[in-house]
Amino acid sequence: MSVLAGKRVLLGVTGSIASYKAVELASTLTQLGLEVDVVLTRGARQFVSALTFQSVTGQRAYVDEDLWGAEGHVLHIGLGKAAELIVVAPATANTLAKLASGTADNLLTLTALASEAPLLVAPAMDGGMFEHPATQVNLALLKERGVEIVGPESGHLASGLEAIGRMTEPARLAGHVRKLLGRSGPLVGQTVVVSAGGTQEAIDPVRVIANRSSGKQGYALAQAAIDLGAEVVLVSGPTALVSSVGAQLVSVTSGREMKAEVVKAARKADALLMAAAVADFRPTRAAKEKIKRVEGAPKVALTANPDILEAVSEGRKKFGKPRVVVGFAAESENLLENAAGKLRAKDVDLMVANDISAAAAGFEVDTNQVVLVDAGGHEELPLMSKAEVGERVLARVVEMLEKLK
Ligand code: CTP
Repeated sequence: MSVLAGKRVLLGVTGSIASYKAVELASTLTQLGLEVDVVLTRGARQFVSALTFQSVTGQRAYVDEDLWGAEGHVLHIGLGKAAELIVVAPATANTLAKLASGTADNLLTLTALASEAPLLVAPAMDGGMFEHPATQVNLALLKERGVEIVGPESGHLASGLEAIGRMTEPARLAGHVRKLLGRSGPLVGQTVVVSAGGTQEAIDPVRVIANRSSGKQGYALAQAAIDLGAEVVLVSGPTALVSSVGAQLVSVTSGREMKAEVVKAARKADALLMAAAVADFRPTRAAKEKIKRVEGAPKVALTANPDILEAVSEGRKKFGKPRVVVGFAAESENLLENAAGKLRAKDVDLMVANDISAAAAGFEVDTNQVVLVDAGGHEELPLMSKAEVGERVLARVVEMLEKLK
């Protein structure tokens, strides 16, 4: 089961046009398995209704009248206690001022004042209101108290202005929520390095030798590690993906660049997850100028690329880090045999093997079917999303690190 499942988040929605985007945030968080209690202020209800939120969260959404309703006067205490995190998105200048001063004149601000849960605010307002010294002082005060302030972003505002004041997009906010929820996870204080995507090896300034790796599995591993509270370094080849909030992204192109960055990061890593598809061979010499067609088909001589896991293994013997190493083996035949062979040859603690000939388990798709192979045997996992595979692999990493304590 996902580590996020059942965690309770309180989403406060205040009176900004961006409140329509808070519906998407509520939906995204619900789909991640979180229980989302929504509290709307009077202003928010001018833009969007409680029913809209209830429809996407499957939970009751609360409004000011509920404070004086059947649950009596302790609703705010109950909501505040149950929440592992309070998110105010969008947060208007008015609500930020109330949060900063401790004003508690509606259900949301009462709940925020009564709760000990960490607070994340996503300001949204017109440019002038954001720049106003009063708003800036309030934000500085909230920051000093440990409140996480995300955004606002610059761009088109409802007033027609191009300025800073747009609420951060829901997908990005959800990333911040995950990072904050990870603070109570088993990998807090641990560094996890993930390599992802394929490498590109230059033939000339235009052409490369590449492979079909999309990076999806590696990025899902990085997210799973963040959900467990790890400090994550994501060494990535070129991909079309957006890095997770909380991951330190190190972008590389070639196998040799990836080796340099992975070896450097591995020295401080508790765990290394080597999910990247590193090119085994590169053109011996990359042409300085673009190869012209009229010159005819070129002969491209190839040289073997260094094996990154081999270099990591050498460092491991010297520095004792990474404490845990996970390798990945994409195979088109003899899956178990090949994976077990690579487990020994590459000095890794766990090999995640997948059969790339299966349609739903391989490049570009969002699902994967893997076998986890270690010295003790193997565990075949059913077809699942790459996000779930990430969670299962990280669960094994947590177990291995625990045993080393
Ligand atoms: N790997 C590596 N350095 C390389 C190539 C691969 O560190 N130059 C890592 C991969 O990231 C993966 C593991 O080694 O974690 C196995 O990769 P794979 O391509 O299956 O192994 P190869 O040794 O290249 O074997 P094959 O001949 O099957 O390609």
